[in-house]
Amino acid sequence: MAKDVIIFDTTLRDGEQAPGNAMSPEAKLRLARQLDTLGVDVIEAGFPAASQGDLRGVQQVTEAVQRPIIAALARCHDGDIDRAAEALTRAARKRIHVFIATSDLHLEQKLRIDRATCVERVRAAVQRARGYAADVEFSAEDATRSDLDFLCRVVLVAIAEGATTINLPDTVGYTTPAEYAALFRAVRDRVPEAEKVVLSAHCHDDLGLAVANSLAAIEAGAGQVECTVNGIGERAGNAALEEIVMAGRTRPQVLSFRCRVNPREIMRTSRLLSHEIGVFPQPNKAIVGRNAFAHEAGIHQHGVLQNGLTYEIIAPETVGAGGSSIVLGKHSGRHALERRYRELGYEPDANAIEQLYQAFTALADKKRQILDEDLLTLLHDGFHRAPEVYNLTQLRVTCGTETATAEVRIAGPGFNERSATASGNGPIAAAFAAVGEAVGRTIEVLDLSVQSVTPGRDSLGRVLLQVRIDGKSLSGHGASTDIVEAGARALVHALNKADHADGLETAALSSSYYWGV
Ligand code: KIV
Ligand code: ZN
Repeated sequence: MAKDVIIFDTTLRDGEQAPGNAMSPEAKLRLARQLDTLGVDVIEAGFPAASQGDLRGVQQVTEAVQRPIIAALARCHDGDIDRAAEALTRAARKRIHVFIATSDLHLEQKLRIDRATCVERVRAAVQRARGYAADVEFSAEDATRSDLDFLCRVVLVAIAEGATTINLPDTVGYTTPAEYAALFRAVRDRVPEAEKVVLSAHCHDDLGLAVANSLAAIEAGAGQVECTVNGIGERAGNAALEEIVMAGRTRPQVLSFRCRVNPREIMRTSRLLSHEIGVFPQPNKAIVGRNAFAHEAGIHQHGVLQNGLTYEIIAPETVGAGGSSIVLGKHSGRHALERRYRELGYEPDANAIEQLYQAFTALADKKRQILDEDLLTLLHDGFHRAPEVYNLTQLRVTCGTETATAEVRIAGPGFNERSATASGNGPIAAAFAAVGEAVGRTIEVLDLSVQSVTPGRDSLGRVLLQVRIDGKSLSGHGASTDIVEAGARALVHALNKADHADGLETAALSSSYYWGV
């Protein structure tokens, strides 16, 4: 009999803890609504003590989303727990998630406390959290590199104080499936009280084993898995939600668990997240990558046409990945546009629809058929971005056999309009140099890729960018039928995020944790 496993989604907390993934409270709200539709059981909405923005983000999620449990993270510090409780005041179903490291390495080198102090902090923190919420999760950070006897002692104390979920994270992605399963069995053997609580797995992907380790933990007794959409998260990321869910559904004979996630919402959730943070999964990413259901070799194509099962273990429609449908064209009106956005799960107000309609008609003049991906790109490029400080108001580029030259004009709220001209060894290099000159910030391009948003010669081009701006790594994306303009817009997007991140960091109580444990 398959057991039920709780899906604890930490896209909005651990997922956000990676360079370039910072989310505004509004973005968190949109994602939380979609995670609700996806059917996750718990949404970890943030770490309220980290910043005012995080506290507000968690509050907004609790006001808008009622079905799933909303969790907020806190260190074993009174102040953190009080902030988490404050952020969760209006939650219909709330969980306070307290954590402290239990490995000697972290205790000695990071926290500079001994084991006895750690135990006392766990006791006090779980007690305090229970004063605010009946549902309390305790995480033993770096559990997989902790001394087993000590880990079991801490787990016992947390349960005795009233923790209802015990999480054993593989914080640095160090363990292997057999070893992680053995850890869960050992804790269950040595701490019989663990049968009264839910044991949870939380895996990072530093060795590419996060999903395999999570599945092994389920087999060894974990009743909850912590994961993120697209596997985003600290360093190499967290276990990917879509991979865990689809592994269970595709191989029920060998992985006997069930969960409440609706797989048909997977692709929509993945796309929404990508557009919100401007980071898209690599093309060969399982389940949600662009090539996950593409068949290139002739022999494969022939097989799939005869019978999908030959080379597809999952039908694309199962995860909501049917081919893009042509939805609108040049003659479509505002109502059709609004209806399609609503069908895609958005609720733009009249003002937004008007602006979207202008952008839509401009695009329809350049491109015959407008697909869902185009509409999402217009929406996210136009509205759902970091608060705008800089705005690209003009771009002129000359290029050819000689050195390329670009002239840009940047304006925006709180920024006096400035123009700059620069040259480079190509049109994009010249445009970037001119933007850097105009805003007066040091920009280093780490990675740049160009994708076509939709098929066809008249496709929108999307530029995805990883840059370092004044020492901070950020991503940006921009779209246009002209890829030089798309590149310049991507850079301006990253600059706006840099400005936003500066603000968040200034307000952070614990920026060292926030930007990396
Ligand atoms: O990876 C980790 O240990 C964490 C904890 C805070 C749960 O994210
Ligand atoms: Zn983590």
